[in-house]
Amino acid sequence: MNVSVVGSGYVGLVTAACFAEKGHKITCVDIDPQKIDKINNKIPPIYEEGLAEILESVVPHNLNATDDLLEAINSSQATFICVGTPCAADGQIDLTHIKKVSEQIGKILADKKNYHVVVVKSTVIPGTTQDHVIPLLESASGKTAGKDFGVVMNPEFLREGKAIIDFKKPDRVVIGSIDDESADLVEKLYYHFKAPVLRVDLKTAEMIKYTANSLLATKVSFINEVGNVCKKIGVNVYDVAQGIGLDHRISPHFLSAGPGFGGSCFPKDVSALIYKAGEVGVQPILLNAVLEVNRNQPEKVLELIEKQHEIKDSKIAVLGLAFKAGTDDVRQSPSIPIIEGLLDLGAVIQAHDFEALDATKKIFKDKITYHSEIKDALAGAELALILTEWPQYKKMDFTPMKEKKIFDTRYIINQDLLPEDVEYEGLCW
Ligand code: UDX
Repeated sequence: MNVSVVGSGYVGLVTAACFAEKGHKITCVDIDPQKIDKINNKIPPIYEEGLAEILESVVPHNLNATDDLLEAINSSQATFICVGTPCAADGQIDLTHIKKVSEQIGKILADKKNYHVVVVKSTVIPGTTQDHVIPLLESASGKTAGKDFGVVMNPEFLREGKAIIDFKKPDRVVIGSIDDESADLVEKLYYHFKAPVLRVDLKTAEMIKYTANSLLATKVSFINEVGNVCKKIGVNVYDVAQGIGLDHRISPHFLSAGPGFGGSCFPKDVSALIYKAGEVGVQPILLNAVLEVNRNQPEKVLELIEKQHEIKDSKIAVLGLAFKAGTDDVRQSPSIPIIEGLLDLGAVIQAHDFEALDATKKIFKDKITYHSEIKDALAGAELALILTEWPQYKKMDFTPMKEKKIFDTRYIINQDLLPEDVEYEGLCW
C-alpha cells in the first residue's frame, strides 16, 4: 500500500520505517530540510535502536522523505499524522501543529479524486479528532468525512528507545473510526504484525491512549511512594515489587521504584488528562497525586544525599542524565531538578551519560562538566549518584573516586559484588 506519514519524529519515522520494511511504499513528509536530507541518506535524525538498519534496507525503494505534501498525498491512499502535541504551561494540550496539518491535508483532498484515509497517530485528547481534525479537513476540502474520505484514530504505544520492537510486536492495534472502509484499510496495513485488533470509535481510541499512559504513570508513582515508606522502615521495595508482581492481577511491569518518571509522554499526557477532566467537571484526585508524587521524588533524592554527605564544594559524579536508559532524551528527566538542587547546595557536578550529553549541555551549559567516559566523571569525586539505569553502570570501577560512596536511585548495582571499601546507599531500599 502507498502511505504518507507527516512528521518525522520518533513516532512518525518509526511508523514509516516499520511499514516500509513490510513492503509498503512510504513517503515521509517533514518541514525540516536537514531531517529530509538525513532520511534520504539513510541516516536516522533521532537515536532509536534498530532504526539505522531498517533505513539502510528500505531507503530509497520503499521509503523516501520530502517536504512536498501535495505529491505525497496524491501518490498515497492513506496519510498518518504524526506531529507533536506538546502541552502548554497550564497542562492543556497544544494542537497548533495538528490543526495546521489537518487544514493543509484538507486543501489537498479538495482536488483528490481517489478515496483517501487520514489517520491521526499523534496523541490527542479525547474529542480532538471529531471536534478539530474532522471539521478542519471538511471545511478545507469541501467534502464529508466518512463519505468522501476516511478518518481513523490509531494511537501509538511506543516506548522511546524500544519503539521499533514495540511497533513490530504490538500488544494490540487500536483502530478508532467513523466508517468501516477506512478501518479496514488501516487494519490491512497492520496485517503482517499479527496483533489483536480492537475497533472502537474515535474518542474511545484517544481515551485508550491516555488511560494506558496514566495507569503506567500511576504504577510508577505508586511504587515510588511505597518505596519512600520502605526506605524509612528498612525494607527493599524491589523485593516487595517482586512479591506483588507475581500476582497476575498486578503484573511485574512498571514497578521499578526510582527518581520518578520523565520523558515526552507520561508527564504531558497525565497533565492533559487532568486538564480535560477539569473541563468536564471531574476533580481528578488520583491523577493529581500521581504528578505530585513524581514532582517530589527528586526532592527525596536530595534530602537523602544531604543527610549523609556534606554537599557544599564536594565533587559529585552524576551518572545518567537521560530520563531512562536507551535514549538521548532529557525532557522532564529527574536528573534536571536533581542537578539544579545539587548546584544550589554548592556541589561541583561531573556528569556522564552514554547518549544525552549534548542535550544536557543545552540546559546547564558551563555550570557542570560533561564526560563521555565513566572514569572521567568519577575522577576525584566524593559521591557517585546513579540516576539512569544504563546497564554499563553495573560494572563500574570506582578506583578513580576520592571517596567511594555510591547513591543508587535505580537499584542497578549488585551490592554483593561491591568492593568492601565502597559505601552504598539506595533511594527506596
Ligand atoms: C511511554 C509509554 O510506555 C509508551 O507506551 C508511550 O507511547 C510513550 O510513553 P516512554 O516515555 O518512552 O514510553 O518510556 P517508558 O519506558 O514507558 O518510561 C517512562 C518513565 O517511567 C521513565 O522515566 C522511566 O524511567 C519511568 N519508569 C518506568 C520507572 O521509573 N519505573 C518503571 O518501572 C517503569
